[in-house]
Amino acid sequence: MSKVPGWILKYKEGIEKGETKVEDVLEMENRLREKPIKISTVTRAINAMGCSFAGLRVEEEKKIRVGVVGCGAIGSEICRAIDTDEVDGRELDLGMELEVLIDNHPERIERLRKSLRSKPDITKSDSTELAGALEEVDLVIECASQAAVREFIMPALKRGKDVMIMSVGALLCDPDLLEEVERISRDKRCKVYIPSGAVAGIDGLKSGAVGGIHSVALTTRKPPRGFEGNAYVQERGIDLSSIQNEQTLFAGSAKEAVKHFPENINVAASLSIAGIGPEATKVKIVADPAAKENVHEIEVEGEFGNLFVRVENVPSVTNPKTSYLAALSAIATLKRISHPIRVGT
Ligand SMILES: NC(=O)c1ccc[n+]([C@@H]2O[C@H](COP(=O)([O-])OP(=O)(O)OC[C@H]3O[C@@H](n4cnc5c(N)ncnc54)[C@H](O)[C@@H]3O)[C@@H](O)[C@H]2O)c1
Repeated sequence: MSKVPGWILKYKEGIEKGETKVEDVLEMENRLREKPIKISTVTRAINAMGCSFAGLRVEEEKKIRVGVVGCGAIGSEICRAIDTDEVDGRELDLGMELEVLIDNHPERIERLRKSLRSKPDITKSDSTELAGALEEVDLVIECASQAAVREFIMPALKRGKDVMIMSVGALLCDPDLLEEVERISRDKRCKVYIPSGAVAGIDGLKSGAVGGIHSVALTTRKPPRGFEGNAYVQERGIDLSSIQNEQTLFAGSAKEAVKHFPENINVAASLSIAGIGPEATKVKIVADPAAKENVHEIEVEGEFGNLFVRVENVPSVTNPKTSYLAALSAIATLKRISHPIRVGT
């Protein structure tokens, strides 16, 4: 149960007696405030007081029913955002409800489910008898792994469900999959959402691609310890602990880069799909003792001019390999889906 905001308490008695309706609270409260609140804020505050809606004139809006595959770092952030309809007190107004949770570690589903206000009834640890669960949702969000894209997203698309894909690297590693996803989503008239993830600048890249792009280059910098255990680095006998100045570990195409630096796969895939494809997109991987976190720089040249974006990513609290921005970009995409005004390309 979320915290009861102080401002709703003055309406409590009237609400409990059934004399004050949701719309009345909205009207009275907005007369007092400089910045108006929305009806969803009022209903949430009434819920938090533990008051029932019986007798209130609230119209039940049709919510988008969501299934989430992957209850890890990104999945947990997404579920909490849908559940509370806010991130750190910032209102989202998503109008969504969680119906299905899937993870091949049942204990992760349970841990997440316990932390949620709404407890989705349908949970699954594999894709057997998936059809029943898919009937209950309008949107399936994959935030699990590349394998999960084939396992859960393809059946969802075949049933005409909208989907969101976070493990976008799957579409780069298996070009047939990208074609298949496109064909089925066209046939079934459903939408495939691929959030920008851990990078920025996809909007400019997409706009630029319409008029013609000459080059796309991604440079990823990490502290040398971020490459520990990487087979490509080990095979080349690079001693990470002795790197004093920045050192380029790899320069080549996105297609080549993802073979040797799979942790870069999602960023390379998003840029390739939005721009000029994995062969033409250039990637440079740099071990930089001055870098504190993962830094991505994107340079695009095209008929429109030039674009340069640098993102210094803060890691997710629960999975240091994942940038917090990736989870936020998924939540921002949910806002885009549910809001009438969609800013940005
Ligand atoms: N698009 C981007 O820029 C971007 C950025 C970061 C992460 N990602 C990708 O998003 C995905 C999730 O990231 P995360 O940090 O939340 O990972 P995580 O490891 O914290 O969580 C993933 C969860 O999915 C579950 N899972 C994995 N494969 C599964 C399967 N086949 N069936 C059912 N459950 C499965 C795991 O048990 C785990 O609980 C990863 O594939 C990651 O590469 C994308």
